[in-house]
Amino acid sequence: MEQRQSPLEALVTPAALPQRGFWRGRTVFITGHTGFKGSWLSLWLHAMGAKLVGFSKDIPTDPSLFQSFRLHELMTDLRGDVTDLSALTSAIAAAKPDIVLHLAAQSLVRLSYATPVDTYATNVMGTVNVLEAARQTPGVKLALMVTSDKCYENREWIWAYRETDPMGGFDPYSNSKGCAELVASAYARSFASDPNGLRIVSARAGNVIGGGDWALDRLVPDLMRGLISGAPLNIRSPHSVRPWQHVLEPLSGYLVLSERAYEDASLASQGWNFGPDSDSEKTVATIANRICDQWPAKDGWVDVSDPAQVHEAHLLKLDSAKARIHLGWKPRWSLDDALDASVAFYREHAKGGDLRALGLQQIAAYTA
Ligand SMILES: NC(=O)c1ccc[n+]([C@@H]2O[C@H](COP(=O)([O-])OP(=O)(O)OC[C@H]3O[C@@H](n4cnc5c(N)ncnc54)[C@H](O)[C@@H]3O)[C@@H](O)[C@H]2O)c1
Repeated sequence: MEQRQSPLEALVTPAALPQRGFWRGRTVFITGHTGFKGSWLSLWLHAMGAKLVGFSKDIPTDPSLFQSFRLHELMTDLRGDVTDLSALTSAIAAAKPDIVLHLAAQSLVRLSYATPVDTYATNVMGTVNVLEAARQTPGVKLALMVTSDKCYENREWIWAYRETDPMGGFDPYSNSKGCAELVASAYARSFASDPNGLRIVSARAGNVIGGGDWALDRLVPDLMRGLISGAPLNIRSPHSVRPWQHVLEPLSGYLVLSERAYEDASLASQGWNFGPDSDSEKTVATIANRICDQWPAKDGWVDVSDPAQVHEAHLLKLDSAKARIHLGWKPRWSLDDALDASVAFYREHAKGGDLRALGLQQIAAYTA
């Protein structure tokens, strides 16, 4: 279906959503399926009837969303390292997927200062290897590379970044994502020009929030660990502005982009932004306050910013006009909806409830 529309039409038409009919019975190879985004994406794809093969190095956190969703019951769950081209190629060849979704990464900015070589190896050579394995495997029609809003050269200015802005990155994580974008672009130009062959796309999104993220050094997991355990709530850089969005928003973008680029070669070989509306661009302090209001903390949070702390971006906005106009994608949940769904999920976790059931309910609410 042709979705291209004028900017005015894009404002008033309902958001495009993933189509169950496209995914039903389709084999999808997903790297990073044990991580935060990968677990939500796997649950959603399974609910739409996809046959899933996941490839990840480890289960990165304890507790983990992968285990809370009991995803090992729903998909083929492989352990492997994306820096190992031969293991990856064998896994993709055995899975015979139609679509490869690459989410595996060393995903943390602060850790990238401690482990720059591993970060580049995983995020840059991992991307090379996924693309190489995909192009060596007959039958793979589309490979989607998940990078980050941090791939852009951040000028710390008030304007949002467009897909045409230069790649960059101050720290090893951000720069590795800029490099991964350049790799995807070179592979697309060099090896994906046949409209009947492999198509390559990349997707850039910002800070996501949502239930079940337990990564270190991320605001919501750090707050939730403190709120659940009663430990002090330590916040760094409370005045930094980030584009907050619920995890289902960019995942919806990845799925809609995959569907559309699969059908229409003119949408492939390029990067796509999936950011929130500008009213979701808030300071770290605003998010912390809203979460503490919903889960009253005895003493509130404490600013533990250290003048000597490593550099992290202060101001970063994404312009998603291209996805709105060419894909019909746009955010569906307000920041309050995103925070409510996230806090509800952590409450259910604290109660020992059925998180797979709640995850499916939240996906159903998002797509309703
Ligand atoms: N969470 C965010 O706010 C955010 C924002 C922008 C971009 N991203 C990107 O989205 C993707 C998913 O992020 P996430 O938050 O789910 O990350 P995560 O840290 O929760 O999960 C990372 C996943 O990658 C796997 N992995 C790590 N190193 C690997 C290796 N060498 N080989 C194989 N697997 C490996 C882990 O096992 C895990 O499954 C990443 O590419 C990340 O950079 C995330």
